[in-house]
Amino acid sequence: MTELMTLQNVSVHFPVRGALPFLKKGEIQAVSNVSLSIHRGEIFGIVGESGCGKTTLASTMVGMIKPTAGQVLFEGVDLNSLPRDEFKKTRRRMQMIFQDPFSSLNPRFNVYQIVSEPMFIRGEDDEETMKARVAELLEMVGLSAGDMYRYPSDFSGGQRQRIGIARAISLNPSFLVCDEPVSALDVSIHAQILNLLLELQEKLNLTYVFISHNLADVKKLCDRLAVMYLGKIMESGDSDKIFAQPLHPYTQALMAAVLDINFSEQKETEILPGDTPSPINPPPGCRFWQRCPKAMRGCKAIPPEYVEVEQDHFVACRLVNGFPDQDMPEGYDQPLVRLKTVRGR
Ligand SMILES: Nc1ncnc2c1ncn2[C@@H]1O[C@H](COP(=O)(O)OP(=O)(O)OP(=O)(O)O)[C@@H](O)[C@H]1O
Ligand SMILES: [Mg+2]
Repeated sequence: MTELMTLQNVSVHFPVRGALPFLKKGEIQAVSNVSLSIHRGEIFGIVGESGCGKTTLASTMVGMIKPTAGQVLFEGVDLNSLPRDEFKKTRRRMQMIFQDPFSSLNPRFNVYQIVSEPMFIRGEDDEETMKARVAELLEMVGLSAGDMYRYPSDFSGGQRQRIGIARAISLNPSFLVCDEPVSALDVSIHAQILNLLLELQEKLNLTYVFISHNLADVKKLCDRLAVMYLGKIMESGDSDKIFAQPLHPYTQALMAAVLDINFSEQKETEILPGDTPSPINPPPGCRFWQRCPKAMRGCKAIPPEYVEVEQDHFVACRLVNGFPDQDMPEGYDQPLVRLKTVRGR
């Protein structure tokens, strides 16, 4: 399998401004030193709690956000070093489907205008060709050519998501990012849209990035996945391996919270206490230490290394990969004792 998309040490930081716009107070490290590869023809999942950087990472993959550092390689070519024209051309081969089918479609445009807009902007087709193509796309996503002159408000949530999908595939992309494509839909429609995505993947040879909070969907659909926490990848690789044996305490906690997985001797894994800390100026060390039920004192100070522990299974955790042999503070391998806080007051 060949790599379609490779991220090399990608970081995306957003400045946090003070009361005066030129005073920079700090930065939100939305994505921090992420490296991963996405293979041609696979479905690659990204999971993690709200605000961990999934959308920012995906937007960086498709060139909507320029990384602060690192490289985004699409078919081996650095996206952000391409000349403008080439960048635009490459960019057309990557599309994004958004979570909310209600706000992602312009209510003043009819379906024909919405679906043909990317072709219109490209400026290579006449109206007849675009109409024929829109009719073909609508049939492909389970709507009919007769829907072309109706408006988004005439459709249900599931149908609107179908319109969004028709638009996303209108320029024959090879790489499609689906950012929580079904989380705004009810259960029965949810399955229909997932099935449509699977059908299209087969028919059009697509590679998907599938962002979701729903681990059951990810388990069903994804060949490989990355688990993110506060802008960093905690664990990534082959989906079957990660679901069979999650190694990072964060992955274990996420899975224990939603899936009925038998963790055998890891029964003490709890549902995660507390909220995700802020990604503004995060401290050194592991970003998960404050909420990790297994944290050692060293986790707080020494950042984890991202290590391939078996083929296509990467983990960033000192408890799995060990601490450095030298220059460690005393007691680094002792459990971290936390003060109990009273919540809800
Ligand atoms: N344009 C922006 N300017 C400043 N901060 C941003 C911007 N976009 C995202 N952020 C911040 O970056 C962090 C990651 O946001 P992101 O939307 O990527 O998270 P997410 O994992 O997609 O969350 P969700 O599951 O809620 O969609 C958040 O703290 C967010 O507030
Ligand atoms: Mg998001």
